[in-house]
Amino acid sequence: MSDNTSQKTVMSGMRPTGRLHLGHYFGVLKNWLTLQSQYDCYFEIADWHALTTRYDKTQDLRQNITEMALDWLAVGVDPNKATLYVQSDVPEIAELHLLLSMLTPNQWVAGDPTLKDMVKMLSDDLTYGLLGYPVLQTVDIVIMKGDLVPVGKDQLAHLEISRDIVRRFNHVYQTDILPEPQPLLTDIPMLAGLDGNKMGKSANNAVFLAESEEETWQKLRTAVTDPARIKKDDPGTPEKCVAVYPLYPVFGNEAATKLAADECATAKRGCMDCKKTLNEFVIESLKPMRQKRAELANDPAYVQQVLTAGAERARERASQTLAEVKRAMKVV
Ligand code: TRP
Ligand code: SF4
Repeated sequence: MSDNTSQKTVMSGMRPTGRLHLGHYFGVLKNWLTLQSQYDCYFEIADWHALTTRYDKTQDLRQNITEMALDWLAVGVDPNKATLYVQSDVPEIAELHLLLSMLTPNQWVAGDPTLKDMVKMLSDDLTYGLLGYPVLQTVDIVIMKGDLVPVGKDQLAHLEISRDIVRRFNHVYQTDILPEPQPLLTDIPMLAGLDGNKMGKSANNAVFLAESEEETWQKLRTAVTDPARIKKDDPGTPEKCVAVYPLYPVFGNEAATKLAADECATAKRGCMDCKKTLNEFVIESLKPMRQKRAELANDPAYVQQVLTAGAERARERASQTLAEVKRAMKVV
């Protein structure tokens, strides 16, 4: 939110498919907290995108939107700095999606490797809606005139299509109203899940913001460690402890990390003690966010007000862009 028109615009979104885990926090949201102070930021809860693969599982959709808003607000996404809104509250996105679909060659979307991956994981037919995923995402970005899009590597293929669509649009209608969005890649290393695989929403390998301290401990307690440490006096190799040791520098401090490494390598500490120490750090770091989340969860009117105000601001911006596009396309 800014009156400074020279300030660049950041746009990003997330599909509301469930509670956020620590991978989301460290991989994505922490970066948003920095960006919201530097740019005009639009952060969208992409519920229509969630429908592209879950059109038949909508019973949790409303709840997931609220959970996502709570998670964002609890970690410090600030509605006074950034515009937070729900995609379906901005119907202009649907109209622009239709217009931009006219000039998007089928091959561009069908060849999108990210989309192909999504289709592969699908136990369902590829729908027309899912095929439009990258076009819809393009609209999310360009309708806010997003210059920069903070995304993970997995989203780069989508963004390439966005840039192609923008170029084609500006060329066909001889205009420059839509900016070509640039990716803003973060080099934050991914946190591994507690079973050593990728931290995921569905697998029981993730620590969630919205869970109790006891639940977190139960997961940490059973996390995989260096497989060579069978007995307590087997020396370990911290680098081989992919799920636990890397959390030390994230939640603890340098001294605690070094001590853990030393005592692991010399078999001075057992894995259970190591996890207990780590757990203290994790609990302490998450406490303020969890407290804030609990407070916000008790104030649904406030959360609703944030989303309503956000939608209003987002629609203002979106309707301007839509009007410009329609003028350029002569569909007024
Ligand atoms: N496709 C993104 C994801 O799965 C979510 C998303 C929707 C998005 N709209 C966006 C990301 C616009 C960036 C910009 O993570
Ligand atoms: Fe991992 Fe700590 Fe066990 Fe070493 S002592 S293997 S760092 S949990």
